[in-house]
Amino acid sequence: MLVFLYTSFLLTIPLFAQETYNCVPFQTNFDSPETVSNINDVNPFSSPFIALSPPESYATSSDRGLTLRLLPPDGGARRNGSVNDKLGIGATVNSTFIIGRGSITTFEMESAQQAGSIVAAIWTDSNDNLNDAVRRDEIDWELISADQEAYQTNFYAPTENDPSPHYGIFGERHRTQNGSTISETHQYSILLAEDRIEWAVDGIIVRTHSKENSYIDGALWWPRHNFVVSLGIWDGSGAKGTSHWAKGPIMWDEVVEPIEVFVKMVKVECI
Ligand SMILES: *[C@@H]1O[C@H](CO)[C@@H](O)[C@H](O)[C@H]1NC(C)=O
Ligand SMILES: *[C@@H]1O[C@H](CO)[C@@H](O)[C@H](O)[C@H]1NC(C)=O
Ligand SMILES: *[C@@H]1O[C@H](CO)[C@@H](O)[C@H](O)[C@H]1NC(C)=O
Repeated sequence: MLVFLYTSFLLTIPLFAQETYNCVPFQTNFDSPETVSNINDVNPFSSPFIALSPPESYATSSDRGLTLRLLPPDGGARRNGSVNDKLGIGATVNSTFIIGRGSITTFEMESAQQAGSIVAAIWTDSNDNLNDAVRRDEIDWELISADQEAYQTNFYAPTENDPSPHYGIFGERHRTQNGSTISETHQYSILLAEDRIEWAVDGIIVRTHSKENSYIDGALWWPRHNFVVSLGIWDGSGAKGTSHWAKGPIMWDEVVEPIEVFVKMVKVECI
């Protein structure tokens, strides 16, 4: 079913057309290796998820779900001011199915217990115009290891009239209501409707952003594409602004390896 959906999408829909979206309910606990294939496998699109990072950067198991790892940079990194000269290699795992308006995507996860600019992100990433970063829509949950009393929500939806990135414009930081993002499992969800995006933690809405509040200088910033689900852990130590945001850089000599995030469930519901 999912394979069929993906294939028919690729074959029948011209890349830049506005595709029609039919929500298909989905759920996995990542309890078996069949749930995630690797981009270098012979037939990677036969699984619901596909890893774009090296095989050692992720694992599946029945008790921990999907483990996403941040591997240290080859030969270590040298710190220069607020950045490192090399970055860790983080796992990126995308869905092979698509989601769109009329869906709630829930991620159950536990973030990485380490200091430094380690970002565990779950996001829905526009699955067309991938070579045109400026036009790529994105709706995010970001959990920063060095800021475990809070989580962050964000979205990007550049338009042709206003293609500049506007980093941070739609970003918000929310203090946790109950405990920490680290060493505790919580459910983070994204509702994508025609008129609004809602972010919820453990079923409680922490942010609603409506379409009517999405104009910047008269240009509408609102997702126009369908998405794939993307799960990842990344090293934010590379650029000054990013490293500052993520409270980095990572001090690799102080890190207790491995740096791991557990995604225990991904669920798509249709509304
Ligand atoms: C450190 O970064 C600065 C720019 O911020 C650069 O000019 C300098 O060459 C870097 N030093 C090393 C040792 O890489
Ligand atoms: C997978 O997700 C990553 C990170 O968002 C993105 O850069 C990449 O283009 C995606 N690839 C596919 C095939 O969806
Ligand atoms: C806080 O977490 C505890 C343990 O997970 C739970 O029993 C309690 O209901 C939570 N309280 C709120 C306000 O969510």
